[in-house]
Amino acid sequence: MQNTDTPRVLVLGATGRTGAAVVKELEATPGQVVPVRASRSETTVEQWIKEGKEAVRIDLDDPDTFPDALEGIDRVFLMTGYTSAMNHQTKTLVDAAEDAGVSFLVHLGVFGDKRSTDPHFAWHELVERYIAGSKVAWANVHPHVFMENLLGINRLRDGRMVWPMGDKQVGWIAGDDIAAVVARILADGPDIHTGKDYYLSADLLNGAEVAEVLSATLGQDIPALVLGPDDLQRMIDAGLDVAPANMDAAYAASTLIWARQTYEGRMDYSAVTTSTVQDLLGREPVHLGSWAAAHRQELLGQLS
Ligand SMILES: NC(=O)c1ccc[n+]([C@@H]2O[C@H](COP(=O)([O-])OP(=O)(O)OC[C@H]3O[C@@H](n4cnc5c(N)ncnc54)[C@H](OP(=O)(O)O)[C@@H]3O)[C@@H](O)[C@H]2O)c1
Repeated sequence: MQNTDTPRVLVLGATGRTGAAVVKELEATPGQVVPVRASRSETTVEQWIKEGKEAVRIDLDDPDTFPDALEGIDRVFLMTGYTSAMNHQTKTLVDAAEDAGVSFLVHLGVFGDKRSTDPHFAWHELVERYIAGSKVAWANVHPHVFMENLLGINRLRDGRMVWPMGDKQVGWIAGDDIAAVVARILADGPDIHTGKDYYLSADLLNGAEVAEVLSATLGQDIPALVLGPDDLQRMIDAGLDVAPANMDAAYAASTLIWARQTYEGRMDYSAVTTSTVQDLLGREPVHLGSWAAAHRQELLGQLS
């Protein structure tokens, strides 16, 4: 029988990359919190319930679905997808969480400096101010570039690592480390983590350095194609590079602005690694070489 004292955590995006990994982490330490999966797909929710999992339907574009989804929920993993809808989605969800008596929100943000000017970074900072203005306790997790982007937006093209930011390095973090940190914060709860910002960056690497790590790990020669943002813009204009299907035009345009700002040195403040994984989990973060070894088949599949 379920212990009703155990905090119930609503995990948004439970069908997605980070949300699914957060659920997995929370389930690996049973008894601390009860994860409640959320999806906008009725079929997915029904399937989860059939499998004996706690699940609710929520559509972040339909606040009428929020009160039922938040009933009996103590903590929320608050994440949104790659669209500018994140602004109204987060705003309305925070309002509903406050009304429902949720005690703790853990927000998935980006690696900004709270003075960001590229749109999607600015949106995340805007919603974080909104969360901070609510009555609900909060913590923010700020991951740098996901290593998993190497399976998506930064996948190898014609066997090459395309890098539109010259020799500029960015921070990289594995999805499993993001999920493990988020899960620890959700399980520990507001007494320990209220008002904290956790920045995640395990490796500092530019495109040529990523190509070197991938070449060494996969035993294949993977060259880098080092470009600037103008070259990327030309590729986009020529239809040679298209945004992923789950990214809207405004978010996609913002990622290009981010690349330009990185190239121009305006993001140099973020060229750092952090000790967050070590501090919260007491272990080394996953480095790109071991991440690539774990994703060997998917990466090799991009070469065939
Ligand atoms: N990629 C990076 O390098 C990076 C770096 C830093 C921060 N971030 C941030 O990470 C976040 C994305 O994380 P991710 O890669 O884990 O996302 P993801 O895999 O694309 O998953 C997005 C999730 O959001 C859900 N979702 C989308 N629209 C919804 C709606 N209207 N109602 C309910 N659920 C909805 C999706 O569920 P369904 O589609 O099943 O409904 C899906 O589970 C973004 O906020 C991004 O800014 C990314």
